[in-house]
Amino acid sequence: MWLPCRCTTKYVAASIRRGVSASFLHVLRRGRSSWNSAAFMPESAGFEGVSGRDALHDYSVSHSENFWAAVARQRLNWIRPFDAVQDCDLSQGRIKWFEGGKLNVSVNCLDRHVHTCPERVALIWERDERGSEVRYTYRELLEMTCRLGNLLRRHGVKKGDCVTIYMPTCPLAVASMLACARIGAAHNVVFAGFSSEALAERIRDAQSSTVITVNQGVRGGKITELKRTVDAAVQSCPTVRQVFVAMRTEKRVEMADRDIALEEEMLKEDVVCEPAAMDSEDVLFLLYTSGSTGKPKGLVHTQAGYLLYAALTHRYVFGYHDGDVFGCVADIGWITGHSYTVYGPLANGGTTVLFESTPVYPDPGRYWDMVERLRINQFYGAPTAIRLLIRYGDQWVKKYDRSSLTTLGSVGEPINTEAWEWYNRVVGEGRCPVVDTWWQTETGGICIAPKPSEPDAEIVPGMAMRPFFGIKPVLMDTEGKLLTSNNTSGALCMAQPWPGMARTIHNNHQRFLETYFHPYPGYFFTGDGAYRSQEGYYQITGRLDDVINVSGHRIGTAEIEDVVVSFTLFLYPYHICDAVCSDEAHLSDFILIISVTQFAKRLPKTRSGKIMRRVLRKVVDCDLEGLGDLSTLDDPAAVQEIIEGHEKVLSK
Ligand code: WTA
Repeated sequence: MWLPCRCTTKYVAASIRRGVSASFLHVLRRGRSSWNSAAFMPESAGFEGVSGRDALHDYSVSHSENFWAAVARQRLNWIRPFDAVQDCDLSQGRIKWFEGGKLNVSVNCLDRHVHTCPERVALIWERDERGSEVRYTYRELLEMTCRLGNLLRRHGVKKGDCVTIYMPTCPLAVASMLACARIGAAHNVVFAGFSSEALAERIRDAQSSTVITVNQGVRGGKITELKRTVDAAVQSCPTVRQVFVAMRTEKRVEMADRDIALEEEMLKEDVVCEPAAMDSEDVLFLLYTSGSTGKPKGLVHTQAGYLLYAALTHRYVFGYHDGDVFGCVADIGWITGHSYTVYGPLANGGTTVLFESTPVYPDPGRYWDMVERLRINQFYGAPTAIRLLIRYGDQWVKKYDRSSLTTLGSVGEPINTEAWEWYNRVVGEGRCPVVDTWWQTETGGICIAPKPSEPDAEIVPGMAMRPFFGIKPVLMDTEGKLLTSNNTSGALCMAQPWPGMARTIHNNHQRFLETYFHPYPGYFFTGDGAYRSQEGYYQITGRLDDVINVSGHRIGTAEIEDVVVSFTLFLYPYHICDAVCSDEAHLSDFILIISVTQFAKRLPKTRSGKIMRRVLRKVVDCDLEGLGDLSTLDDPAAVQEIIEGHEKVLSK
């Protein structure tokens, strides 16, 4: 990992300045209270005594059922209204929302918008080849989805089946997801960069009989043989009966008996497809996320609650309005792609960008060129890409007109102060709020983010800050006791259920209970640590299983990395054996003394850019047998480099 040079004193000064300006803004804010919650959120018109964002949040938590009932009735189209808002018990890990209700997710994402504005653009496919974007209207996307739904039905896919989708981010992938939703099948999107073994493991666990793929993928100017990967994977998947193959490139690929040419067959289908009436709690999709050991977990999301939560967060965290162009650059293989490229924007009748390329192809100006060309209003990306782009210099950003931008989002890992400031100052020219959004595959949608808030409310760099409507975060100490004061750090848990949460782990409810509900009985445990500031704002400090104990203080990797960014160092943070700090100081103001440092060209990262710290820890512990599930690694060679580097350090 290359870290840009910055001196520590500047860092400390910046963090002090941050504190000063934060409290100054706080005073400014108190002087005003002109917020009209009904104008802000029409659903809240009937909530008594609610004026202001804080009051609306309080209401959403204290009158959770009223809040979610009103939002669900108004924001979703129901075939049959629900009987009960919720039936949840966190102590039992039971989560059910809107039971008795029936709806169809694809109707909510497509048909209702086709009725009001058929020619509105639903998707802008930003293809890998720069400047060759393709637009699809709601009418076209509905047609594509219906043809695909009919095709799947004709080939025996039924309600309750699970279809594995191994495709790059493209319109047919979106239509495949929606076609599954239309006919009541669950989908299981597997990131189209995973190896055949990783794919096979997910197909087997999901018990899919149908796979949808493309002949070849195109990303960063490189061709990948996706069909070939599927061929290799299905060798060890006896459940697979059929593989639908779409054509991303002209190249013909070998077709076996089980293979079906997707576009050709779609053309034979009708453009009308009867939507299945689904129960609120029927499965919408599985999405696998890597577990720290052993098998990946297939998290299960259901229909109504998930869709509602994705739609509401998309609308309010990003301030999305009709006519805006929303640019989430995450791959559809991740939960971010599910919730903020597909379901949230489409449920809101929005225009969403499907980004097929990489931030540096054909050059490091790709994102901003795209912002200019597509007139993107909200841009949602990952800190790892931001840090990469900082290295190439501001000129790649400034070259392009970014005046369309109104909000910048960040997700996936803590955004260090330097990256936050660059994003805000250089990309957003200081005029776009930066929303550092904290959430997980398990949470379905954003849980903590600076927005929504009152227009002049402060935003503190590098902090996710405020819980979303209906979200009640709490911090726990190591003994499992609730930490009630501010200016404190602990394990981040949720004290109340919300509609977007995952319902189980496919085929392994016990693991679901053990991972998320047993550690702190009565609470949902996120696995992350957080700091709650004096003002009550949350800052995520990183995975708790990555915590380092320094002189009795638990320090998260985010805090260390924020400080370490000050040096030109290649470092992994497991040899930190001492630290000097003052008790009152916020952890990130620690001065760390690093006794042993290993230099590495790169760190082992997942495909979505997260550092696989447990792998580093195992290397440091010389436990090479226990490296665990490596299927989500971007480049396994990085692990070998680290192992070799570690051997050199030891031999010194
Ligand atoms: C981390 C991605 C700090 C966190 C949506 C979480 C973050 C894990 C942030 C989930 C953030 C995500 N600040 N850390 N804004 N957003 N994380 O399931 O550790 O791929 O538990 O979902 O990413 O990753 P996942």
